Amino acid sequence: MYKVLKREQIVPNIHLLVIESEFIYKNAQAGEFVVVRADEQGERIPLNLVDWDEKSVTMLFMEVGTSTRKLATLNSGDEIATLAGPLGKPTEMVKNQRIVCIGGCYGIGALYPVIRAFKENNNYVTTLIEARSSFLLYWQDKLKQYSDELHEVTRDGTKGFRGHINDVLVNHIKKNKVDLVYVQGCTYLTYLSSETTKPFGVKTIVGLNPIMVDATGMCGVCRVIINGETKFGCVDGPEFDGHQVDWNTLLARRRIYLGEERYSLSFYECETYG
Ligand SMILES: Cc1cc2nc3c(=O)[nH]c(=O)nc-3n(C[C@H](O)[C@H](O)[C@H](O)COP(=O)(O)OP(=O)(O)OC[C@H]3O[C@@H](n4cnc5c(N)ncnc54)[C@H](O)[C@@H]3O)c2cc1C
Ligand code: FES
Repeated sequence: MYKVLKREQIVPNIHLLVIESEFIYKNAQAGEFVVVRADEQGERIPLNLVDWDEKSVTMLFMEVGTSTRKLATLNSGDEIATLAGPLGKPTEMVKNQRIVCIGGCYGIGALYPVIRAFKENNNYVTTLIEARSSFLLYWQDKLKQYSDELHEVTRDGTKGFRGHINDVLVNHIKKNKVDLVYVQGCTYLTYLSSETTKPFGVKTIVGLNPIMVDATGMCGVCRVIINGETKFGCVDGPEFDGHQVDWNTLLARRRIYLGEERYSLSFYECETYG
């Protein structure tokens, strides 16, 4: 069992989770993830590592279904059944480039270790974070530490640029030299950003979130099609070239257990709240 050191909702629906761990930090690198399981009956779910030290690892999660709902009820001193990692391939590091890093929902937090690593490798980092409204943005101060520029984008215009990330991205690419775009967040954000950069020929790396089970390359559930070839998100990724992703297959595969996920959540809520 693994001890919860902290669990805190930082903006509506998004929680910080700090779990005691003495070993993960030794091998952790930007872009990697861990698998957690709230309890013995729970599902194993992948979450990006957003920070780590000698005593703990930190994740951020968005409450969307049964497993994340269970994690959202944890308090300091509670325990979770599984913590495995670090898993996946780390972010491929580049040096002396001009990089635009984009994050939305839980991806704002997932950007943090990657931006830190990009900055430590002498890259010029422009960070764009987006949300429906200003009250859903977070960690601006943490991200600013490793960003040369940080811009906020809200769909309702309550902070920063009003509109969608693609408008801001197009403007930025037209006015500035951009060598690489890096994106973390929901599938729609990674898809939209990749489609936006494609006509400009700017290399775009996206963190994908296919459904995973074992996360060690054994079950095949996380398969994605990259440049016409089948790859496993857990061991070949989770980061891939966004211009090579077969988005239709990814979006369809993410929905295959929708019925079971809805049933599981209503069953859990009936059991818990009556
Ligand atoms: C490598 C990797 C890293 C990941 N890192 C993170 C992370 O750092 N933080 C994090 O919050 N999640 C992350 N995810 C996604 C996370 O694993 C899933 O959200 C989680 O498994 C959901 O489990 P659940 O049981 O709560 O919901 P489920 O019952 O599995 O899903 C509930 C429903 O929510 C829908 N749903 C899932 N994601 C979203 C979304 N973004 N917006 C709206 N609806 C959605 C699904 O379609 C489904 O119908 C990552 C996934 C991968 C593969
Ligand atoms: S999750 Fe099973 S092979 Fe990737």
